[in-house]
Amino acid sequence: MTELGLMHARRGVLPEHYALFGKSMVNTLTAGLKTSYKPPVHKSWLKFISMASKAMISDFQENPDILSDDLSIHKIKILQDTWKIVNQNKLVGRLIFLRLFEIHPEAEYYFSFTVDKDYQTNPKF
Ligand code: HEM
Repeated sequence: MTELGLMHARRGVLPEHYALFGKSMVNTLTAGLKTSYKPPVHKSWLKFISMASKAMISDFQENPDILSDDLSIHKIKILQDTWKIVNQNKLVGRLIFLRLFEIHPEAEYYFSFTVDKDYQTNPKF
């Protein structure tokens, strides 16, 4: 189970999501199997869901740093959302460079586009 639990955690699935997922599974099985969804069937599925969830949740709990160490789906979403907000005028990339050169003028040397001494007013910059 270890890989499966960690894969889910990396994708942003949290322990509290498992109960909801279990309910959806039981719900779908009940609807799909209709009268065949008898108590032993229900018990077997509940057992599987509970065992799998427990194992997968403990994978996550044993590796709580998984979300902070990895660039998880959750973090990627935060990056995309905040970049969208900050880059509404499409100028933020340019501002980052201007700020860098303001703090560290010597850094200009490492960027080829600065050979053009008028690069700051060049529309391509
Ligand atoms: C008993 C609990 C669960 C089991 C046994 C289970 C099992 C699986 C399996 C076998 C896969 C495919 C893995 C692969 O492609 O290698 C998968 C994928 C996935 N599961 Fe679960 N899962 C469980 C709970 C959950 C929960 C609680 C969520 C979130 C609400 C979730 C979301 C996902 C997602 C997003 C994928 C990837 C789908 C894709 O893009 O291919 N799963 N799961």
